[in-house]
Amino acid sequence: MSKFMEWVDARFPATKMWEEHLSKYYAPKNFNFFYFFGSLALLVLVNQIITGIWLTMSYTPSSEEAFASVEYIMRDVDYGWIIRYMHSTGASAFFVVVYMHMFRGLLYGSYQKPRELVWLFGMLIYLALMAEAFMGYLLPWGQMSYWGAQVIISLFGAIPVIGADLTQWIRGDYLISGITLNRFFALHVVALPIVILGLVVLHILALHEVGSNNPEGVDIKKKKDANGIPLDGIPFHPYYTVKDIVGVVVFLFVFCSIVFFFPEMGGYFLEKPNFEVANAFKTPAHIAPVWYFTPFYAILRAVPDKLMGVVAMGAAIAILFVLPWLDRSPVKSIRHKGWLSKLWLLIFAVSFVILGYFGSQAPSDVGTIMSRTCTILYFAFFLLMPFYTRMEKTKPVPDRVTC
Ligand code: HEM
Repeated sequence: MSKFMEWVDARFPATKMWEEHLSKYYAPKNFNFFYFFGSLALLVLVNQIITGIWLTMSYTPSSEEAFASVEYIMRDVDYGWIIRYMHSTGASAFFVVVYMHMFRGLLYGSYQKPRELVWLFGMLIYLALMAEAFMGYLLPWGQMSYWGAQVIISLFGAIPVIGADLTQWIRGDYLISGITLNRFFALHVVALPIVILGLVVLHILALHEVGSNNPEGVDIKKKKDANGIPLDGIPFHPYYTVKDIVGVVVFLFVFCSIVFFFPEMGGYFLEKPNFEVANAFKTPAHIAPVWYFTPFYAILRAVPDKLMGVVAMGAAIAILFVLPWLDRSPVKSIRHKGWLSKLWLLIFAVSFVILGYFGSQAPSDVGTIMSRTCTILYFAFFLLMPFYTRMEKTKPVPDRVTC
């Protein structure tokens, strides 16, 4: 084996990369529950790619055959049902995992200097992931696929001057048709997965350049032993590779339970109208996107003007990009920030969940009032951040990792 590795290493930096990113990558020793979600995101990404490739083998991307080909996968293709449910459940699992992963960033200030680029690459992944999910959702060519795409694409029509031409350009037709389905298929199975994979590589390279943050927000590189190894660091492999397996097992229990027993998740993972083939002449009674888009959909509906609604929805995502420059706190972790930061983070998280709930419901007076209030709170969390993070009294950050 060692002779073989010598041969490889003389031609390709295999051992060098293994050491740099795993066996000699020193990660803080106090990673907690929230640190499982990075490796879980990688797991779900692999699941989506593999099940996606197998689905593509039996799926037909045409408006005449798409819906029937999904039924064929579910009923006739050997193990087609499990591959399809792994992919559809995987889409929702991806967002659960990524939202937890992002929330960890907010909790421990992982976006702060020097990890701004880690955060920015993460945000680009999030954008690409939203595009990937949106385009994938059109492919089964059910009623909600069709009308969901219709609602979202028509939003571009609110843009002055170019709006009408832009929507036609996106659809490739005067209405959503087989042409739209074909281009979404190409983007969903080829273009966006490549972009996401590339961004994930950049995300991890950027992280390994600066090193991981941790729940205490302590910079472990400041205290090193005589060999230059951080005193509070442990090699990622074997310590965290083994620990992450625990997370993977627990995750798979939950994931498999859903795949086997609740693949539709009461209409939240697979919406009921999508079991009916797309019909351009029949609008479903209530059009709502899948749960992971509903907070932004609620923001869109909270604003009475269509264009301003689109702007607010875009801004709700765009503002996350500048987060590293809004937080002026001298400390990273929420553990050492003052009560104002804690309160605002709580308000933000609760508002996001409430927006998500009302975005999934049919419009109502209560829904509108709640969505408007939560939209204001959502933006206030970010816009007031430069002030409350500077004003508040913070606790001293310990020199060493203690817990
Ligand atoms: C396909 C999606 C993603 C994958 C596979 C992924 C993967 C990872 C991995 C493996 C780590 C190191 C382990 C860990 O700290 O948990 C990490 C760290 C990190 N990720 Fe992601 N990530 C994804 C999406 C995102 C998104 C959407 C964001 C935020 C916008 C983000 C922000 C971060 C940050 C700030 C860190 C550093 C955390 C720290 O050191 O405390 N990631 N990511």
